[in-house]
Amino acid sequence: MQIIIYDNAQQVAESAALWVKELINKKPDPVLGLATGSTPISLYKQLVEQHKTKQISFKNVTTFNLDEYHHIAPENPQSYRSFMAENLFNHVDIDVNNTFLPTCAPGQNPRTQGLAYEDKIKQHGGIDLQILGIGANGHIGFNEPTSSLSSRTRIKTLTQQTITDNSRLFKPDEKQPTMAMTMGIATIMDARYVLLMATGANKANAVKDMITGGVSAMCPASALQMHENAIVLLDKEAASELS
Ligand code: F6R
Repeated sequence: MQIIIYDNAQQVAESAALWVKELINKKPDPVLGLATGSTPISLYKQLVEQHKTKQISFKNVTTFNLDEYHHIAPENPQSYRSFMAENLFNHVDIDVNNTFLPTCAPGQNPRTQGLAYEDKIKQHGGIDLQILGIGANGHIGFNEPTSSLSSRTRIKTLTQQTITDNSRLFKPDEKQPTMAMTMGIATIMDARYVLLMATGANKANAVKDMITGGVSAMCPASALQMHENAIVLLDKEAASELS
Protein backbone atom coordinates (compact mmCIF):
# COMPACT_ATOMS: atom_id res chain seq x y z
CA MET A 1 0.00 0.00 0.00
CA GLN A 2 1.24 3.43 -0.87
CA ILE A 3 -0.17 5.91 1.65
CA ILE A 4 -0.10 9.62 0.96
CA ILE A 5 -1.31 12.15 3.50
CA TYR A 6 -2.42 15.59 2.36
CA ASP A 7 -3.31 18.69 4.34
CA ASN A 8 -6.91 18.75 3.20
CA ALA A 9 -9.68 17.06 1.23
CA GLN A 10 -9.24 19.35 -1.78
CA GLN A 11 -5.65 18.17 -2.22
CA VAL A 12 -6.84 14.55 -2.00
CA ALA A 13 -9.30 15.22 -4.85
CA GLU A 14 -6.67 17.00 -6.94
CA SER A 15 -4.24 14.14 -6.52
CA ALA A 16 -6.89 11.52 -7.40
CA ALA A 17 -7.80 13.55 -10.50
CA LEU A 18 -4.16 13.45 -11.64
CA TRP A 19 -4.16 9.65 -11.45
CA VAL A 20 -7.33 9.48 -13.53
CA LYS A 21 -6.02 12.02 -16.03
CA GLU A 22 -2.80 10.08 -16.50
CA LEU A 23 -4.70 6.86 -17.16
CA ILE A 24 -7.11 8.46 -19.61
CA ASN A 25 -4.37 10.22 -21.51
CA LYS A 26 -2.09 7.18 -21.63
CA LYS A 27 -4.43 4.34 -22.54
CA PRO A 28 -6.47 4.33 -25.76
CA ASP A 29 -9.38 2.40 -24.16
CA PRO A 30 -9.23 3.05 -20.40
CA VAL A 31 -11.57 1.26 -18.02
CA LEU A 32 -12.38 3.18 -14.85
CA GLY A 33 -14.04 1.79 -11.74
CA LEU A 34 -16.17 4.43 -10.04
CA ALA A 35 -17.56 5.05 -6.58
CA THR A 36 -20.44 7.16 -5.34
CA GLY A 37 -20.86 8.82 -1.92
CA SER A 38 -19.66 12.18 -0.64
CA THR A 39 -15.92 11.55 -0.92
CA PRO A 40 -15.46 11.33 -4.72
CA ILE A 41 -17.74 14.31 -5.53
CA SER A 42 -14.78 16.70 -5.44
CA LEU A 43 -12.79 14.32 -7.66
CA TYR A 44 -15.62 14.34 -10.21
CA LYS A 45 -15.67 18.16 -10.05
CA GLN A 46 -11.97 18.14 -10.91
CA LEU A 47 -12.53 15.76 -13.82
CA VAL A 48 -15.36 17.91 -15.19
CA GLU A 49 -13.05 20.92 -14.97
CA GLN A 50 -10.24 19.04 -16.74
CA HIS A 51 -12.71 18.11 -19.45
CA LYS A 52 -13.94 21.71 -19.83
CA THR A 53 -10.37 22.90 -20.23
CA LYS A 54 -9.73 20.15 -22.82
CA GLN A 55 -7.16 18.30 -20.72
CA ILE A 56 -9.10 15.02 -20.94
CA SER A 57 -11.74 13.39 -23.09
CA PHE A 58 -13.99 10.55 -21.94
CA LYS A 59 -14.88 9.49 -25.52
CA ASN A 60 -13.04 6.18 -25.25
CA VAL A 61 -13.55 5.62 -21.53
CA THR A 62 -15.63 2.75 -20.17
CA THR A 63 -16.81 2.89 -16.56
CA PHE A 64 -17.99 0.30 -14.06
CA ASN A 65 -19.53 1.49 -10.82
CA LEU A 66 -18.95 -0.38 -7.62
CA ASP A 67 -22.55 -0.65 -6.58
CA GLU A 68 -26.19 0.24 -7.02
CA TYR A 69 -29.20 -0.03 -4.75
CA HIS A 70 -31.27 -3.17 -5.21
CA HIS A 71 -34.51 -2.80 -7.21
CA ILE A 72 -34.10 0.95 -7.65
CA ALA A 73 -35.24 2.50 -10.96
CA PRO A 74 -32.35 4.20 -12.79
CA GLU A 75 -34.37 7.42 -13.05
CA ASN A 76 -34.96 7.51 -9.29
CA PRO A 77 -32.98 10.56 -8.08
CA GLN A 78 -31.52 8.37 -5.29
CA SER A 79 -30.12 5.78 -7.71
CA TYR A 80 -26.39 5.68 -8.21
CA ARG A 81 -27.08 5.97 -11.95
CA SER A 82 -28.63 9.40 -11.21
CA PHE A 83 -25.72 10.29 -8.92
CA MET A 84 -23.20 9.53 -11.67
CA ALA A 85 -25.23 11.44 -14.27
CA GLU A 86 -25.47 14.47 -12.02
CA ASN A 87 -21.87 14.48 -10.84
CA LEU A 88 -19.99 13.29 -13.92
CA PHE A 89 -21.65 11.70 -16.94
CA ASN A 90 -23.86 14.69 -17.88
CA HIS A 91 -20.89 17.05 -17.85
CA VAL A 92 -18.33 15.16 -19.95
CA ASP A 93 -18.20 13.58 -23.41
CA ILE A 94 -18.66 10.00 -22.23
CA ASP A 95 -20.86 7.66 -24.26
CA VAL A 96 -23.53 6.64 -21.76
CA ASN A 97 -23.64 3.19 -23.40
CA ASN A 98 -20.13 2.67 -22.06
CA THR A 99 -21.17 3.29 -18.44
CA PHE A 100 -22.21 0.30 -16.35
CA LEU A 101 -23.62 -0.22 -12.88
CA PRO A 102 -24.43 -3.56 -11.22
CA THR A 103 -28.21 -3.52 -11.41
CA CYS A 104 -30.92 -5.94 -10.48
CA ALA A 105 -34.41 -4.91 -11.53
CA PRO A 106 -37.51 -6.59 -10.05
CA GLY A 107 -37.96 -9.99 -11.72
CA GLN A 108 -34.28 -10.35 -12.58
CA ASN A 109 -32.16 -13.03 -10.97
CA PRO A 110 -29.51 -11.39 -8.76
CA ARG A 111 -27.07 -14.26 -9.24
CA THR A 112 -27.33 -14.09 -13.03
CA GLN A 113 -27.02 -10.31 -12.88
CA GLY A 114 -23.92 -10.54 -10.70
CA LEU A 115 -22.24 -13.05 -13.03
CA ALA A 116 -23.16 -10.94 -16.07
CA TYR A 117 -21.52 -7.89 -14.47
CA GLU A 118 -18.33 -9.85 -13.82
CA ASP A 119 -18.37 -11.06 -17.45
CA LYS A 120 -18.90 -7.55 -18.76
CA ILE A 121 -15.85 -6.31 -16.82
CA LYS A 122 -13.79 -9.19 -18.26
CA GLN A 123 -15.01 -8.49 -21.82
CA HIS A 124 -13.63 -4.97 -21.45
CA GLY A 125 -10.23 -6.28 -20.39
CA GLY A 126 -10.66 -5.63 -16.65
CA ILE A 127 -10.61 -2.41 -14.64
CA ASP A 128 -7.48 -0.30 -14.99
CA LEU A 129 -8.09 2.01 -12.04
CA GLN A 130 -10.75 1.53 -9.38
CA ILE A 131 -11.76 4.56 -7.31
CA LEU A 132 -12.81 3.68 -3.77
CA GLY A 133 -14.16 5.41 -0.70
CA ILE A 134 -14.29 3.69 2.67
CA GLY A 135 -17.21 3.28 5.06
CA ALA A 136 -16.81 4.22 8.71
CA ASN A 137 -17.08 0.46 9.37
CA GLY A 138 -14.30 -0.34 6.87
CA HIS A 139 -16.54 -1.35 3.96
CA ILE A 140 -15.45 -0.91 0.35
CA GLY A 141 -18.21 -0.96 -2.21
CA PHE A 142 -21.03 -2.36 -0.11
CA ASN A 143 -18.86 -5.20 1.14
CA GLU A 144 -19.81 -4.86 4.76
CA PRO A 145 -17.76 -6.37 7.62
CA THR A 146 -17.78 -10.21 7.44
CA SER A 147 -17.95 -10.13 3.60
CA SER A 148 -15.86 -12.89 2.09
CA LEU A 149 -12.52 -11.65 0.84
CA SER A 150 -13.09 -13.76 -2.27
CA SER A 151 -16.58 -12.41 -2.96
CA ARG A 152 -17.79 -11.42 -6.44
CA THR A 153 -20.63 -9.13 -7.57
CA ARG A 154 -23.74 -10.01 -5.60
CA ILE A 155 -26.49 -8.64 -3.37
CA LYS A 156 -25.64 -7.49 0.13
CA THR A 157 -27.84 -6.34 2.98
CA LEU A 158 -26.52 -3.05 4.33
CA THR A 159 -25.57 -2.90 7.99
CA GLN A 160 -27.48 -0.62 10.33
CA GLN A 161 -24.37 1.57 10.61
CA THR A 162 -24.23 2.10 6.82
CA ILE A 163 -27.97 2.79 6.67
CA THR A 164 -27.60 5.34 9.49
CA ASP A 165 -24.47 6.92 7.90
CA ASN A 166 -26.28 7.31 4.56
CA SER A 167 -29.60 8.51 6.02
CA ARG A 168 -28.29 12.09 5.70
CA LEU A 169 -28.77 11.73 1.94
CA PHE A 170 -32.50 10.89 2.16
CA LYS A 171 -35.42 13.20 2.87
CA PRO A 172 -37.74 12.08 5.68
CA ASP A 173 -40.43 11.00 3.16
CA GLU A 174 -37.98 9.03 0.97
CA LYS A 175 -37.67 5.27 1.42
CA GLN A 176 -34.04 4.37 2.06
CA PRO A 177 -32.92 1.12 0.43
CA THR A 178 -31.47 -1.54 2.71
CA MET A 179 -29.94 -3.78 0.03
CA ALA A 180 -27.51 -3.22 -2.83
CA MET A 181 -25.75 -5.04 -5.65
CA THR A 182 -22.03 -4.59 -5.18
CA MET A 183 -18.80 -5.69 -6.74
CA GLY A 184 -17.18 -8.23 -4.44
CA ILE A 185 -13.85 -7.82 -2.71
CA ALA A 186 -12.22 -10.17 -5.24
CA THR A 187 -13.72 -8.08 -8.07
CA ILE A 188 -12.11 -4.98 -6.60
CA MET A 189 -8.81 -6.79 -6.04
CA ASP A 190 -8.72 -7.70 -9.75
CA ALA A 191 -8.39 -4.03 -10.74
CA ARG A 192 -4.87 -3.20 -11.92
CA TYR A 193 -4.73 -0.14 -9.66
CA VAL A 194 -6.98 0.83 -6.76
CA LEU A 195 -7.14 4.39 -5.50
CA LEU A 196 -8.83 4.76 -2.12
CA MET A 197 -9.77 8.26 -0.96
CA ALA A 198 -10.61 8.93 2.68
CA THR A 199 -11.27 12.32 4.22
CA GLY A 200 -12.56 13.50 7.57
CA ALA A 201 -12.17 12.40 11.17
CA ASN A 202 -15.12 9.98 10.97
CA LYS A 203 -12.97 7.74 8.73
CA ALA A 204 -9.91 7.75 11.01
CA ASN A 205 -10.69 4.47 12.81
CA ALA A 206 -11.56 2.62 9.60
CA VAL A 207 -8.35 3.92 7.99
CA LYS A 208 -6.33 2.75 10.97
CA ASP A 209 -7.88 -0.75 10.81
CA MET A 210 -7.37 -0.90 7.04
CA ILE A 211 -3.67 -0.03 7.26
CA THR A 212 -2.44 -1.29 10.62
CA GLY A 213 -4.88 -4.09 11.45
CA GLY A 214 -4.50 -7.62 10.13
CA VAL A 215 -6.18 -8.60 6.88
CA SER A 216 -9.65 -9.50 8.03
CA ALA A 217 -13.19 -9.81 6.71
CA MET A 218 -14.14 -7.64 9.71
CA CYS A 219 -12.46 -4.72 7.90
CA PRO A 220 -13.05 -5.39 4.19
CA ALA A 221 -10.72 -2.54 3.15
CA SER A 222 -7.83 -4.37 4.83
CA ALA A 223 -7.84 -6.75 1.81
CA LEU A 224 -6.08 -3.91 -0.04
CA GLN A 225 -2.95 -4.74 1.98
CA MET A 226 -2.68 -7.70 -0.42
CA HIS A 227 -3.05 -5.56 -3.56
CA GLU A 228 0.09 -4.89 -5.58
CA ASN A 229 -0.95 -1.39 -6.60
CA ALA A 230 -3.10 0.09 -3.87
CA ILE A 231 -2.80 3.84 -3.39
CA VAL A 232 -4.43 5.43 -0.35
CA LEU A 233 -4.99 9.19 -0.38
CA LEU A 234 -5.83 10.66 3.01
CA ASP A 235 -6.36 14.08 4.49
CA LYS A 236 -4.90 14.83 7.91
CA GLU A 237 -8.13 14.07 9.74
CA ALA A 238 -8.57 10.65 8.16
CA ALA A 239 -4.92 9.89 8.97
CA SER A 240 -5.19 11.13 12.56
CA GLU A 241 -5.31 7.66 14.19
CA LEU A 242 -2.22 6.39 12.36
CA SER A 243 1.00 6.05 14.43
C1 F6R B 1 -20.02 4.06 -2.87
C2 F6R B 1 -19.44 3.00 -2.06
C3 F6R B 1 -19.17 3.15 -0.61
C4 F6R B 1 -18.64 4.53 -0.23
C5 F6R B 1 -18.47 4.63 1.29
C6 F6R B 1 -18.01 6.00 1.72
O1 F6R B 1 -20.19 3.64 -4.21
O2 F6R B 1 -19.20 1.97 -2.59
O3 F6R B 1 -18.26 2.17 -0.21
O4 F6R B 1 -17.43 4.76 -0.87
O5 F6R B 1 -19.66 4.31 1.93
O6 F6R B 1 -19.04 6.90 1.46
P1 F6R B 1 -18.81 8.48 1.67
O7 F6R B 1 -17.84 8.89 0.64
O8 F6R B 1 -20.17 9.06 1.43
O9 F6R B 1 -18.33 8.65 3.05
